[in-house]
Amino acid sequence: MTTPVEPVWRPAPHEFADSSLPTAVRVYEVGPRDGLQAESTVVPTAVKAEFCRRLVAAGVRSLEVTSFVSPKWIPQLADADALLAELDLPGSVRQVVLTPNQRGLERALTAGAREVAVFVSATETFARKNLNTTVSGALDNARPVVEGARAAGIGTRGYISMCFGDPWEGWVDPRRVADITAELTGMGCSSISLGDTIGVATPGHIRAVLDAVQAAGVPIGSIAGHFHDTYGQALANVYAALTAGVTEFDTAAGGLGRCPYAKGATGNLATEDLVWMLHGLGIHTGIDLGALTDTSRWMAGHTGHPSPSRVATALIAART
Ligand code: HMG
Ligand code: MG
Repeated sequence: MTTPVEPVWRPAPHEFADSSLPTAVRVYEVGPRDGLQAESTVVPTAVKAEFCRRLVAAGVRSLEVTSFVSPKWIPQLADADALLAELDLPGSVRQVVLTPNQRGLERALTAGAREVAVFVSATETFARKNLNTTVSGALDNARPVVEGARAAGIGTRGYISMCFGDPWEGWVDPRRVADITAELTGMGCSSISLGDTIGVATPGHIRAVLDAVQAAGVPIGSIAGHFHDTYGQALANVYAALTAGVTEFDTAAGGLGRCPYAKGATGNLATEDLVWMLHGLGIHTGIDLGALTDTSRWMAGHTGHPSPSRVATALIAART
């Protein structure tokens, strides 16, 4: 008599494409930078380099690897120069580093950066807390960085934090976000990432800000969504942005990270959670969910805490 074979459930999203949505999305992985900048343990450089390699092996093609900020402000990423020296990612990978000022740009160029990112705030309080300046001071600091990067032959991404709500100032006027987006675009930033730094936005709010940004003349193709998952709204917000035509989203493998200067913020949307939803919608990402989950699990062994990603947790549980 033969023993009945138990069916093996290998979870993968069941695909139902929606022809009204984009067919492909660029997943912009921020785990090594946004993910590690607030960890209480400082991860060794060799582990960061291996994290980047594993992410690329899992299919990541846009990767923010570190920050050339003041080591007094972010000691966790003080090894940015050493990390770039150790990294040997293929030229096809978009490899980006954060640069807050000209000093950061000089360090980044010396280290061989391929693309930089400037970051400003939509609110005065966060501009002070995160960059020790004002909103217009941050824009003034960004301008020479964008110009210097262009002169060196590399591109610049622009970030705006606190685009929706701010823990000190409350709700943010979408027109303010639109004006700053237009200013960064005018400077020459090729893409602008709109940050819900404390994760308070809801889908209608996302659409309102995207409408304001487009009304200010910024094309939707140059906008990226950077949604923290503090209130569990990040995936719904991605969906709202997809319906408006956004095709680039910032996420961190395993849901790592937050900004240490943003009161009340928790992790980024997990890359696994984003990819599960996108693949279910038939949207191409190029990412291998199994390999990505293995990478998050491996990284959790170094940070000392499990991934908050629902998808990563479920996929690991399903294997055992
Ligand atoms: P400051 O203290 O006003 O500047 O900081 P300073 O010019 O007085 O410099 C202080 C010290 O840092 C000096 O050293 C400088 O030389 C040095 P000292 O003379 O005291 O020995 N310094 C640097 N060293 C290395 N590299 C540099 C650099 N610049 C100055 N580039 C500053 C101003 C902008 C430097 C500081 O506020 C800073 O580094 N802030 C960065 C904070 C940060 O990285 N936050 C997290 C990233 S943003 C984020 O996570 C949000 C995002 O994910 C989107 C979202 O979620 O919304 C992007
Ligand atoms: Mg962030």
